[in-house]
Amino acid sequence: MRNVVVTGAAGFVGSQLAAACLEQGDRVVGIDLMTDYYDVAQKESNLAALSGHERFEFVRHDLATGFDEFADGADVVFHQAGQPGVRASWRNQFDEYLSRNVQATQRVLEACTQHGVERLVYASSSSIYGNADRYPVDEEMRPKPYSPYGVTKLAGEQLCTLYGQNFGLSVASLRYFTVYGPGQRPDMATHRLFEAALGGPVFPLFGSGEQRRDFTYVGDVVAANLAAGAADVAPGAVFNVAGGGDHSMLELIDLVGEIVGTPVPIDHQDPERGDVTRTGANTDLARTVLGWEPTTGLRTGLEHQHAWHVARRN
Ligand SMILES: NC(=O)c1ccc[n+]([C@@H]2O[C@H](COP(=O)([O-])OP(=O)(O)OC[C@H]3O[C@@H](n4cnc5c(N)ncnc54)[C@H](O)[C@@H]3O)[C@@H](O)[C@H]2O)c1
Repeated sequence: MRNVVVTGAAGFVGSQLAAACLEQGDRVVGIDLMTDYYDVAQKESNLAALSGHERFEFVRHDLATGFDEFADGADVVFHQAGQPGVRASWRNQFDEYLSRNVQATQRVLEACTQHGVERLVYASSSSIYGNADRYPVDEEMRPKPYSPYGVTKLAGEQLCTLYGQNFGLSVASLRYFTVYGPGQRPDMATHRLFEAALGGPVFPLFGSGEQRRDFTYVGDVVAANLAAGAADVAPGAVFNVAGGGDHSMLELIDLVGEIVGTPVPIDHQDPERGDVTRTGANTDLARTVLGWEPTTGLRTGLEHQHAWHVARRN
């Protein structure tokens, strides 16, 4: 039985990854600081779904203060914890991004190196690409983040790569492209669209709606993590994890309206600083090295997310 640690285990991706690890027979220690970036009740509900499991243990802990006691005895660490969100990463809030994305990652890396953890998987982000020179982006392209958030995710990723190169730590970084699906964070567009269509607050559309995103189903992101936890990868390797095709916000708005059966009410707003015009990835490397590719199409994934919104409202 593998001993697995999932950081950010109360969050959107981390909670579903922890559940998948339990499902495949691992013993799982979940760590989370339970930050209030969004409603903590959603995190508590994520944890409640895991807490009954006999092979699951939860520890509330700030990774920026250290990770030694958790790396000791761990076989695989999935480092999902972080401070997400592009728009909130300006001004003094940057301090939280530094602590939660950079300092916390450095503590995880030090401890995993000291305790000989067999594999560390880091949740990186498409935000490291910024507005790219060409699409779809591949892992060889020069990163040029466009938001403070992107800078801190890139710093975390580059720390991973250099710990791999300097110490031979077996670490892989996965660059997620806009994750959606059941359990999605309430600050994310798809979540707000469903809530707006179901009678909640009107959806604030920043910019023209022509901006394009490569949407990745959360189940596919979990599968990419499981693959990266087991595959033979070079220390410090980096992989795009994307849904395979980009869509405009206007297309997404129409699709959500179609699934709910009512148009989404929109409030047009100016573009937000830090928002890129397009994301879109080539995932050939993940397919070749990890044996992973996305399997859930956008409409199917959105239907699963719709069902989740309806169930939680009832
Ligand atoms: N959701 C996406 O579309 C997306 C895209 C690209 C990258 N990512 C990255 O994937 C990871 C997971 O994202 P998510 O959407 O599940 O976010 P999330 O906010 O739902 O989960 C992250 C969790 O990390 C915890 N955390 C933050 N700082 C911590 C610390 N210092 N110590 C312990 N726990 C801490 C938070 O409390 C939160 O529960 C993040 O690192 C994020 O940057 C997400």
